[in-house]
Amino acid sequence: MDDPNRLPVRELISEDRIQARVTELARQVSADHAGKELLAVGILKGSWVFLADLVRQLTVPVVIDFMTVSSYGETTETSGVVKIVTDLKCPIEKRHVLVVDDILDTGLTMKYLLGSLRLRGPESLKVCVLLDKPARRKVDIKPDYVGFEVPDRFVVGYGVDFAERYRHLPYIGFVEESDGSDK
Ligand code: IMP
Ligand code: MG
Repeated sequence: MDDPNRLPVRELISEDRIQARVTELARQVSADHAGKELLAVGILKGSWVFLADLVRQLTVPVVIDFMTVSSYGETTETSGVVKIVTDLKCPIEKRHVLVVDDILDTGLTMKYLLGSLRLRGPESLKVCVLLDKPARRKVDIKPDYVGFEVPDRFVVGYGVDFAERYRHLPYIGFVEESDGSDK
């Protein structure tokens, strides 16, 4: 494999488009939760850039917490067996919870997470993802808020990594291997 630090990235979604869409999402989330306090749950690490931009544009009061999850035995594919590595600090019972993640791919991670969070008795439970790859879905999940639908290609940037690289890019792009193929 090529050195992941040196692979070129081709832009797919520009910084300006992302920022404009995040503003729209924040308006929608705020309108849907008017008069309520939101508990935004960021799924680490992929969601942190998106979450930071999103919550700063909300007009409803918000409490922020994080979870770290990992799936077993994977490379770039999710196995479906998910482990909660770091759990929330906040109880979510009777609260309005918005789970924020970077990408909904097969949906296996989110399906497991929602099942686990539902058992804790939230008042409402919604899902907001920056990117959706519906072509890859293996389970029936429809996120409540989606930034962009993307094709079945491996993407990076704006929090999303390849081997922990590229999270800092302000845009979303494809990593290109030196033979011209996608990651
Ligand atoms: P799922 O369980 O297959 O939906 O896995 C979703 C998770 O896989 C995302 O939160 C990402 O962490 C990771 N993922 C899926 N597609 C990509 C990609 O194109 N680039 C980087 N990470 C990805
Ligand atoms: Mg993730």
